[in-house]
Amino acid sequence: MASPDAFYITTPIYYVNDSPHIGHAYTTLACDALARFARLDGKRVHFLTGTDEHGQKVEKAAAAAGLAPQAFTDQVSERFRELARAMQVTNDDFIRTTEPRHKAAVQALWRRLAANGQIYLSSYAGWYSVRDEAFFAESELVDGKAPTGAPVEWVEEPSYFFRLSAWQEPLLRLYEEQPDFILPATRRNEVISFVKGGLTDLSISRTSFSWGIPVPDDPAHVMYVWLDALTNYMSAVGYPDETAPSYRTFWPASVHVIGKDILRFHAVYWPAFLLAAGLAPPERVFAHGWWTIEGEKMSKSLGNAIDPHELIRTYGLDQTRYFLLREIPFGNDGDFSRAAMINRMNRDLANDYGNLVQRVLSMIHKNCDARLPGPGALAEADRALLGAAADLLGRVRDAMATQAPSRALEAIFEVIAAANRYVDGQAPWALRKTDPARMATVLYVLAETIRRLALLTQAFMPEASARILDQLGVPPDARQLACCGEADALTPATPIAKPEGVFPRHVDAAA
Ligand code: MSP
Repeated sequence: MASPDAFYITTPIYYVNDSPHIGHAYTTLACDALARFARLDGKRVHFLTGTDEHGQKVEKAAAAAGLAPQAFTDQVSERFRELARAMQVTNDDFIRTTEPRHKAAVQALWRRLAANGQIYLSSYAGWYSVRDEAFFAESELVDGKAPTGAPVEWVEEPSYFFRLSAWQEPLLRLYEEQPDFILPATRRNEVISFVKGGLTDLSISRTSFSWGIPVPDDPAHVMYVWLDALTNYMSAVGYPDETAPSYRTFWPASVHVIGKDILRFHAVYWPAFLLAAGLAPPERVFAHGWWTIEGEKMSKSLGNAIDPHELIRTYGLDQTRYFLLREIPFGNDGDFSRAAMINRMNRDLANDYGNLVQRVLSMIHKNCDARLPGPGALAEADRALLGAAADLLGRVRDAMATQAPSRALEAIFEVIAAANRYVDGQAPWALRKTDPARMATVLYVLAETIRRLALLTQAFMPEASARILDQLGVPPDARQLACCGEADALTPATPIAKPEGVFPRHVDAAA
């Protein structure tokens, strides 16, 4: 049993056959927002990402690059680390499947499965797709290719098998007893009907290449790369030492966030391996959708993959994070277009959020002696706005608990819109002469609303939110979500720095 206040979240570990692109950045950023949110909300968080470095696909990519696999994976893995750094991702660990700690964990899991009678030696004859690193039955092929469109090759070799067929009923029970084990619900239904269709035993070793973790006591075999890869989630918290504090605190994982293409591995094979080993399956697998680029599938042949570094350079990090998490409900497919990116950046961030902050802080700076004003008695409209801002924490927390960052952001931006309407309605600039005390109340209500908003946007847009909180004079130790309420409201007379815009508009170089 993991600790009740623990939150262990993982990204898939990325294949090192390719440079990181926007698809990888997306999963990692979503996990980062979820991890940051949980941390700000007082949870003990462990956030893991890393690289998947064995198997035929990586072996081939290394050969194509003219490098030994280890040298090649060292190079490419580092690019994923660099990307995480560039995106200010707050992962607590970065695992590589070529590390000794991981090899030891996978071999221990294998031994345990073998000891439980879950593995037998036979031979495999069938189709294999290197691109998917997956076996396919003849009946699954579509026009002679894998259902993903990847080419398949015929494989015939001695192989160890895992008794997956024995786990159909227990898996169905797991989906039943843990109804949120697979989210979103549509994906859950897909998995259930796949498992109900019957499971065949799974080939879990290969003999026709060597870039993998050797099977214990039979080094002619290397382990199937998915058995190897999935185990990363446990090796990173100390398995096979089940007494390790990190293992006891964090296993089972709270959520594995993945793309929809790798759901079967995570929602069928992985819990089956764990159940068969007598270990607890994760609490949840969340499968997000896929991005197309300007309406087209992202592909090597089209050369249209988007480099996340370029996005950050062109639009800014917080802007990129905001766009990816806001544009598409997490779980759905979506299209990346530069027009949509610029629109979100200019409309939501610069006009709505940025302008609200800038207007309010400038008015305070100019008209209140650069200090937070003190509020008088609150009017109905003041209470309504502060109330909406106070209710946000619950709404955002609910959304984040089901991995719905776009819903969380929508709720936050509803309050930003309400605050902008309030500014227009109250017209504090006109009150300056007619009713300065009322102006002070209105500006205080706005500043306090912005404080609550900025606390909540920290998980999504950390840099800009920190600057807003700095400008409001909120000390670093008062930025936890527990400080969202009235008890931690801004103190009148706190000095306000000269406000500087936090969300620049994007002006297209070509325009
Ligand atoms: N190595 C495996 C995962 C092993 S986890 C134990 C793998 N790696 S991957 O690098 O090919 O893909 C990693 C993730 O990137 C997947 O979750 C996949 O869905 C995601 N994406 C790849 N292209 C994508 C898009 N175009 N859009 C969104 N996500 C995409 O699979």
